[in-house]
Amino acid sequence: MSMNIKDILNKMTIEEKIGQLLQLIPSFYKEASEGEITGPLKAAKLDEKILWNTGSVLGIANAEDMIEIQKKYMENNRHKIPLIFMADVIHGYRTIFPVPLGLSCSWNISLVKKTAEIAAKEAALSGVQVTFSPMVDLVRDPRWGRVMESTGEDTYLNSLFAKAMVEGYQGNLNEECNIAACVKHFAAYGAPEGGREYNTVDISNRNLRENHLPAYKAGVDAGAEMVMTSFNIIDGVPSTCNSKLLRDILRSEWGFDGVVISDWTSVDELINHGVAEDGREAAKKAMEAGVDIEMMSINYVNNLKSLIEDGEISEKLIDDAVLRILSLKNKLGLFENPFRSSSIKESEETCCCEEHLKIAREAAGSSMVLLKNDGVLPLNKERKIALIGPFADEKNILGPWSIYGKPEETVSVLEGFLEKLPKERIIRVKGCDVASQDTSLFKDAIAAAEKADVIVLALGEEESMSGEAGSRADIRLPGVQEKLIHTLSKLNKPMVIVMFNGRPLEITGWYQEASAILEAWFPGTEGGHAVADILFGDRNPSGRLSMSFPYSVGQVPVYYNHFNTGRPYVKGENSRYSSKYLDIPNEPLYPFGYGLGYSEFEYSDLELSSEYMSKGESIRAFLMLKNIGEMEGIETVQLYLRDVAADVARPVKELKAFKQIRLKAGEEKRVEFEIDEEMLKYHDLQGNFKAQKGKFILSVGGDSSKVLWKSFKLI
Ligand code: GLC
Repeated sequence: MSMNIKDILNKMTIEEKIGQLLQLIPSFYKEASEGEITGPLKAAKLDEKILWNTGSVLGIANAEDMIEIQKKYMENNRHKIPLIFMADVIHGYRTIFPVPLGLSCSWNISLVKKTAEIAAKEAALSGVQVTFSPMVDLVRDPRWGRVMESTGEDTYLNSLFAKAMVEGYQGNLNEECNIAACVKHFAAYGAPEGGREYNTVDISNRNLRENHLPAYKAGVDAGAEMVMTSFNIIDGVPSTCNSKLLRDILRSEWGFDGVVISDWTSVDELINHGVAEDGREAAKKAMEAGVDIEMMSINYVNNLKSLIEDGEISEKLIDDAVLRILSLKNKLGLFENPFRSSSIKESEETCCCEEHLKIAREAAGSSMVLLKNDGVLPLNKERKIALIGPFADEKNILGPWSIYGKPEETVSVLEGFLEKLPKERIIRVKGCDVASQDTSLFKDAIAAAEKADVIVLALGEEESMSGEAGSRADIRLPGVQEKLIHTLSKLNKPMVIVMFNGRPLEITGWYQEASAILEAWFPGTEGGHAVADILFGDRNPSGRLSMSFPYSVGQVPVYYNHFNTGRPYVKGENSRYSSKYLDIPNEPLYPFGYGLGYSEFEYSDLELSSEYMSKGESIRAFLMLKNIGEMEGIETVQLYLRDVAADVARPVKELKAFKQIRLKAGEEKRVEFEIDEEMLKYHDLQGNFKAQKGKFILSVGGDSSKVLWKSFKLI
């Protein structure tokens, strides 16, 4: 950071200052660099002058484009202020890792941090300086398409991943193979009513504080340089003009001094929300709330100058925003080197290099969750396999936010299988499409299955069925895939089902017909290798669900850390008057924290160092964990707490710690946790974050439903 950015600011005209608050896509420059200004620039009624005063570019394609645009820009910008290039590098740049919902099922914080480091290096070499990641929205509704981009339903886990990804991307920013992180979408975008994209969010302040805000704060505390506002309203006010959120909480309470960027046209959308009559009022409200960069709409450019001239807003607001943007450019060293790490040669050499693909394979294998296994897995490599389904040989398994990934560089399930056993032992048939109603290929599938010892069905959702604008009300397997399962199960052969999807699905209609079910999510570039590693026993699956699998979409939102209600349903009781459905169970099909492996772990001898914890002190929990299976494996030992009586209703359990323990077959280990007062805190009636004396229940287990428990008292 060498430039005196205040000196630069003092030399800038108001138009040049306002230009820094605008973000455009590269095509505006590509046309400019070809001399003729046409298309969107004309449509946006922007004259060429603004082009050379714009602050940032969104979505650069590669190092070559970045170098070309930056070179042209620096020739035309009066103060030699460089552009900053931002992009959606969500779970990998060219080496694509599992979607974040998959990554979070690894419960492996250091591994996820490593994926962010690799993404940052590939992106930095390819012309990117800021990524619009991590997305840390808490989710409880699998109808919403962007659950694939989240790290699930738990606040504590989300907070750990938010911190890890910010640190992974940013490192210490002045090293050139790091990029600035942008925590999004602030705030609570993951709670739209009905799971319907862009829909109203209407949650209590308590829910916001207890469940949604901590992960954003964790990202900010980790040093994130940018925060993106969400499309939704909070308490009736759109985040993009919500001063309480952006100035009181984000800046004053949390001390965030980085850049706030709107989401795509979310400044414009203040008009649709009904809080601004026109672009002028939208610009005024967003600037007053503290939005520094207006993404992909031009209300700032068209209105801020006249708002200042009319005395409706102070120029200081613009100066503050410009200084934050210049400060970010300065931190990234762009004034010294406007091209930073961009290198066409190094980008090509580094993207998808062996070392990165190795981590991608490890990440994909760690993210997959074995939901069911009657013993058919691991598969014997001597057996004949009918590999059936639309994902049997599909390379589009990168997920809906894998902009820079290349399907042709992706390993399909078939390719993964062919590296494990001779092609004579594999009969590959498509069987059906993902979403059509065509059953004409069923007969080939039946014929293949009849010749095989084992059926492996590779099924799922199109990538476009999740992600942004990807909400689904019916979250079963689409098309005729369920019909294919029912058809093949009539052959009474072992049937392994592997799913490629961006959300927990409703699989209640067929899960009992499957011998085994492996949730692969969208596993990324190395997906086929990772599936084969697990199915043939070269990897012992260790993934654990970070989001509940509903028994029925009618349960949604269904999540583990729910309240007890005044009439909790107790399994087996037959009272009508308790909190339950007449037609389905309360519990999800598979709960948060659940996952199987090829080992089996036995929990025993849970003990506490004391039944009493004094304020400011801590107690310890001990238990024995034994691998009673035949394979070495990793168990994620989860520790939950329940505050039995407080100022307000408290969840029946909350994840407060976990440890990943690797044990050889037959090996036993004593596992220890320290429980301190910080873990007992919540926002009391006055909004103070503190622990209340009284009884707590501590439970430990391999998922949120199977636990050993003890109680203790805070005194
Ligand atoms: C999109 C998304 C946001 C993304 C941005 C830029 O609408 O909501 O997550 O970073 O626009 O592509």
